[in-house]
Amino acid sequence: MIAKTYTILNYGCQMNESDAEHFAGQLKDLGYEETVSYHDADVIVINTCCVRESAEKKILGKIGELKHVKAEHPGQIICVAGCMAQKDGGKLLKKYPQIDLLVGTGQVNNFKAIFADHLAAKGQKIYDGIVCGESEFEGEAVRRSSFSAWIPIMYGCNNFCTYCIVPYVRGRERSRGIAAVKTEIANEANRGFKEFTLLGQNVNSYGKDLGEKNAFARLLKECSEIKGVERIRFMTSHPRDMNEEIVRTVAEHDSICKHFHLPAQSGSNRILKAMNRGYTREKYLELIASIRKYCPEASVTTDIIVGFPGETEEDFEETLALLSEVGYDAAYTFIYSKRSGTPAAVLGEQVPIEIKKARLQRLMEVQNNSSLARNRKLVGKTLTVLAEGPSQNKSDVWSGRTDSNKLVLWPAADHNYTAGELVSVRIDSAQTWLLKGTAEA
Ligand code: 5AD
Ligand code: SF4
Repeated sequence: MIAKTYTILNYGCQMNESDAEHFAGQLKDLGYEETVSYHDADVIVINTCCVRESAEKKILGKIGELKHVKAEHPGQIICVAGCMAQKDGGKLLKKYPQIDLLVGTGQVNNFKAIFADHLAAKGQKIYDGIVCGESEFEGEAVRRSSFSAWIPIMYGCNNFCTYCIVPYVRGRERSRGIAAVKTEIANEANRGFKEFTLLGQNVNSYGKDLGEKNAFARLLKECSEIKGVERIRFMTSHPRDMNEEIVRTVAEHDSICKHFHLPAQSGSNRILKAMNRGYTREKYLELIASIRKYCPEASVTTDIIVGFPGETEEDFEETLALLSEVGYDAAYTFIYSKRSGTPAAVLGEQVPIEIKKARLQRLMEVQNNSSLARNRKLVGKTLTVLAEGPSQNKSDVWSGRTDSNKLVLWPAADHNYTAGELVSVRIDSAQTWLLKGTAEA
């Protein structure tokens, strides 16, 4: 008998990548095998993102295309999961009758039961609703990587930044228990995984709902001490809940990566207030000073939004100045996208798109200079790199990441590297997005 097949089309953030691995694990449990081409898959899961309109448009285009794919493959099951499924539910079913099943963000770990129920019952169905205490994932995730594992530590978000749709589609903060997180890491370390990224929308407030203060620092420390763990990463940090104890915990443990992704969003206090970020530029710079003091070698990256409603040229210049003052290793820059249902969507002074685009351009120029300057400082140093695999363009050049999350390329020569191996690489040259070097014996 030929096994039934599935494919997952994934969009969005790392949490979605992790959710996709959980969907895959549950489909595998039900006897399905992965196939790369969705043209002949029996099940297609589209795991969606709605953080910006551009993501939504791309995904809606794909759902439209799948109508024709399904027409050639009668009986194919199309499941739309994730943030858009949660947000738009019934509206999607009405507009796209090719969808068989909608699975919201709170139902990822119930997917196996939902899917079995669907097979028995047939007909279009919506499973949304964000469960209170998150149900633990029972089973084995089908992970994309053989050495690096996503570990969700909490779900949802309580921050309600005024531009952001996430709290509406992922619900309130729910932390997994420390024991469950540690057991998952220990099991995966036993299977040969080396690197673990602790995931949450706001990892610094981990454990607050469990009644423990500063539980994140304890979690970091305890995870870093698990046998077989080479590297612990975490994202995303929120400046409101980040503190010196966390920075010191990172500094004190070799296996905790020296990389802080600390989204500033804006450098203007007026805009930060309108965004409901809960910190000022000054407070943010204090955190940066604490990182520089305890972890001088750490890389720092950020997210910035340009064109938030009411952002003036002066506000924007304060953001540019913040970038220069901090000297980020990288910045993920976004044009503000109006998300209906969020408080910022109804603010009067929306910034015209031409101005937003011009600001994004200026921001990227400043950041590219800063990234290059930061990378140039590493030339001549020998860094430990976790080998990932041959580079995209050349099979005889390997790529990997430093503990500070920099991409490094080096010629493999006749050495047989394995993914997940730690390699010492001397850095010979720097570019904006990567470093090039030579492996040391
Ligand atoms: N428009 C543009 N960017 C956004 N982000 C979140 N919501 C929006 C929005 N409405 C950005 C933030 C966040 C990152 C994941 O996406 O910078 O940190
Ligand atoms: Fe997109 Fe946010 Fe949902 Fe992640 S949590 S998929 S970024 S909307």
